[in-house]
Amino acid sequence: MYEKRLIDLALEARKRAYCPYSHFAVGAALLCQDGTIYTGCNIESSAYTPTICAERTAIFKAVSEGKREFICLAVAGGREDADILPITTPCGVCRQVMMEFCNPQTFLIFCASSPENYKAYTLAQLLPKGFGPTNLNY
Ligand code: THU
Repeated sequence: MYEKRLIDLALEARKRAYCPYSHFAVGAALLCQDGTIYTGCNIESSAYTPTICAERTAIFKAVSEGKREFICLAVAGGREDADILPITTPCGVCRQVMMEFCNPQTFLIFCASSPENYKAYTLAQLLPKGFGPTNLNY
């Protein structure tokens, strides 16, 4: 049950979110093809636009360590003081970054409120007809 392990790690990463402006804390965990896992949290900025989402933190950590092949990602988000989390789906910018490195038909995103309660989507479901690297080769 790697989904539950990934969700647990996303929930752990969520505790490290730096979100003093939105108070919306998000964690993510990314499984790479080689079995390694990278986690991430959202990190906000007082200038607002430099803010980075949990999903991109995890993906950029992995890419900066030489990983480029990814299997799936778990994300969990909600108000930082919430006991029960809603299902949070990745923002459009994160979906586009996933499109850069992931196969949209097979890459799975587990949007979790808990290890027992999550929805699984392919990237193609979240970003239909997305623009990716192959669109440059015509
Ligand atoms: N955020 C994420 O980290 N991931 C998502 O999937 C949705 C939004 C962050 C960005 C910002 O720090 C806060 O949540 C509110 O938008």
